[in-house]
Amino acid sequence: MNEPKWVVLQVTEKCNLRCKMCYEWGDNGAYLKKNNLNNLSVHKIEEIFSDLRDYNVYYELFGGEPMLHPQFADILKLIKRYNCTVDIPTNGTLLSKYYKEVVDANIRRIWISLDGPKEVNDAQRGQNVYVRATEGIKDLQKYKKEIGSKYPLVGVTFVVTPDNYKYLKSFYVEEVSKMNVDYFSIEFQLFITEERYKKYKLFIKEKFGLENAWASSGLIRNLEQFKDIDIEYLVDSLRYIKKEIENTDTKLIGYPKFIDVENVRKFYNGDWDNMKEARKSCPFPWVYMEISASGVVTPCHTFYDIEMGNVNDVSIMEIWESAKFKDLRTKMRKCITPICFACSRYYN
Ligand SMILES: C[S@@+](CC[C@H](N)C(=O)[O-])C[C@H]1O[C@@H](n2cnc3c(N)ncnc32)[C@H](O)[C@@H]1O
Ligand code: SF4
Repeated sequence: MNEPKWVVLQVTEKCNLRCKMCYEWGDNGAYLKKNNLNNLSVHKIEEIFSDLRDYNVYYELFGGEPMLHPQFADILKLIKRYNCTVDIPTNGTLLSKYYKEVVDANIRRIWISLDGPKEVNDAQRGQNVYVRATEGIKDLQKYKKEIGSKYPLVGVTFVVTPDNYKYLKSFYVEEVSKMNVDYFSIEFQLFITEERYKKYKLFIKEKFGLENAWASSGLIRNLEQFKDIDIEYLVDSLRYIKKEIENTDTKLIGYPKFIDVENVRKFYNGDWDNMKEARKSCPFPWVYMEISASGVVTPCHTFYDIEMGNVNDVSIMEIWESAKFKDLRTKMRKCITPICFACSRYYN
């Protein structure tokens, strides 16, 4: 039996923003229909850290917006106490409140979402978000310097959408390149079509007897929405940034990995199976699990449809070693679901 190597804790489902492209809280977001919004309790998080303490686990906090957890500072204290290796993605709106605790907890990397210059970012992510997030980055960097801490390394995450792709290049040149960040991650907005969603529902029904898929519905978009993207311009921008960033201390990451006009066109045409990144299986069920804010353990990132158990009922290692998880590994050994291309891990 492999050990879990990468564990994502969705500490809260709540979010204070409604970013348009977001599969959780955006237009068509799956969480908009939820009546109760859960938080993973600090007690449960401690139990997980304790149960996995003998393994060399890389953790990631996830949301909603992780910093909205009502006891976020206590979670950071736990991370410090258990000396866990942790990444945190955040919309940055509460970073000015928590930057000291984040640095003191020795968080490995913090990823702040910024989708363009002020007006463009705020049109996509909400009013005043840009100022709050960039102030947060400055506060954190200043404090790191003051106390001489290397961590957390700081990344800016840019999600490419039809509304902001034209500003990507100038945003890098005029802003990101001056922010002194360790990473710049450029990630295409992931989406699925109605047709793919139907195929996925059929797939999980046939393989796992599941009648309800809910989590992935927030990814459904019409291909029409992407048809006006000037793919040549986008590819040029990406190549330009790649070249410019090479001689700096900032590392460029993101997806898709293969940036050429043909491959990017396939992405936006919904021809995902013929992209260069296309794969026929996924290694994650053997090394990875995600614990949702309601305690559900799943092998997938953000698609919380396929449930392996609940940490509120049994321990995380019992779930990891359960017959149900083993059955999933057997069933998924040589296949992927019809929407796996819309998972960011697919491009890892
Ligand atoms: C779901 S958010 C959770 C963390 C935090 N709330 C934030 O915004 O950074 C994680 C990342 O996913 C990005 N994201 C949201 N919708 C997306 C989509 N459809 N495709 C790709 N990334 C998306 C967000 O911009 C953010 O960088
Ligand atoms: S802040 Fe994060 S979770 Fe909230 S709506 Fe935006 S992308 Fe989604």
